[in-house]
Amino acid sequence: MIRYADYKQYLSPALAKTTEIVAVRGEGSYLWDNEGRRYIDWVQGIAVNALGHAHPRVVAAIQEQVGKLLTASFNMVNYESTLKWAKAIAEISPGELGTTFFSNGGAEAVDGALKLARAVTGRPGIISFIGSFHGRTFGGTSVTSSNAKYRKGYDPLVGAIETTAYPSPGQCPAGLGEQGRSDYALGRLQEIFAYVRAPETVAAILMEPVQGEGGYIVPPTQFVTAIREICDEHGILLIFDEIQSGYGRTGKFFASEHFGVVPDIMTVGKAMAGGLPASGIVSTPEIMEKWAAGRHGGTFGGNPVAAAAGLALLEEYAQTDLLANVVEQGGYLAKRTQEFTEKYPIVTDARGLGLMRAIELNHPDGRPGGDLLEKVRRGCLDGGLLTLACGVKANGLRFATPLNVSRDVLDEGLEILEGVLAKVCEEEA
Ligand SMILES: Cc1ncc(COP(=O)(O)O)c(C=O)c1O
Repeated sequence: MIRYADYKQYLSPALAKTTEIVAVRGEGSYLWDNEGRRYIDWVQGIAVNALGHAHPRVVAAIQEQVGKLLTASFNMVNYESTLKWAKAIAEISPGELGTTFFSNGGAEAVDGALKLARAVTGRPGIISFIGSFHGRTFGGTSVTSSNAKYRKGYDPLVGAIETTAYPSPGQCPAGLGEQGRSDYALGRLQEIFAYVRAPETVAAILMEPVQGEGGYIVPPTQFVTAIREICDEHGILLIFDEIQSGYGRTGKFFASEHFGVVPDIMTVGKAMAGGLPASGIVSTPEIMEKWAAGRHGGTFGGNPVAAAAGLALLEEYAQTDLLANVVEQGGYLAKRTQEFTEKYPIVTDARGLGLMRAIELNHPDGRPGGDLLEKVRRGCLDGGLLTLACGVKANGLRFATPLNVSRDVLDEGLEILEGVLAKVCEEEA
């Protein structure tokens, strides 16, 4: 029996491990370890497996492509699957976004998007938002602020990046509604323009249309539309990082559609290749045209196996009306998690869009409930339910179920979670 503990010494401790599970098999919502234990998986590779584990259509497409060609590098040749994939992504992307640069992971795509914005505008400045997470490369780290630990010890980071308030309840004065929070965050941005960095020196405003790691926070629509207007006014490119919120997780193909706002550049990743590593920078042909050949690159991007998986995934979306399931099951999850806030005093908020949902835990005296969340997460794990934390205070529990999750599996998981919440509440009383 292979045990993590016996091999731990060979792995860098920098990768924080949430469990010691040695996973051997997955099917749909379930994951099995090498001791035969079954878990309901509400992490799904951190919001990656939109169709759950080992979806037959995706597996078949991967197997077929693997038998034909693994790589000859998309720098050197073209692949049928990758060409078709680029076209398919253009078809699902909002507005005129229809030209893709393929990379391998989310942070790499964010890095590339920042380079694209600087290259196209000739300006250095980037504005990002407090609470956002954009990955671990130097570029990604420099625009990330969901926790100071991600940046600690890495200075100097990429320059000319300013960070401003996101209109989340935690970052705005207490008691403000949507309009108030939007006004407050826009005011902070105007202060940056007035005192720190003139808007004509800003290449891009980078935002998650729904903050992911930062706590599954949905911004007010008026804020997102105002950001679009500000970008238009000053010739600033708007970059939406849809790596976690995209590909249907919120009930629309891309979260931007909820706000009726089309960005100039969009980063995609996570779900896009059915579980294989892939990411993309998607923009308009006009913007991409200004990024001359050779100004960006990579050995592995546009891999034909990832592309075959990505195409199979999109076929499944089209043929099963997957987004309707996200809306239906997301609505049910919203109702159930809302009930938790009424039933369990430690559950102080339930929020999200579609199947991008989270609950927040706090102590009844108002202290952030990171410790409570750890107890809940551990209890769920013991009960056979895999969950993941989120939130700037690590006191959110995010639900990253597959998008094709059934009501039965949701109920099965919610029963485990509810039992644990009741127990933790009892211990806290
Ligand atoms: C919104 C967002 N951007 C970027 C990233 C980084 O992606 P990766 O871990 O694939 O580099 C993540 C990962 O969680 C993310 O949620």
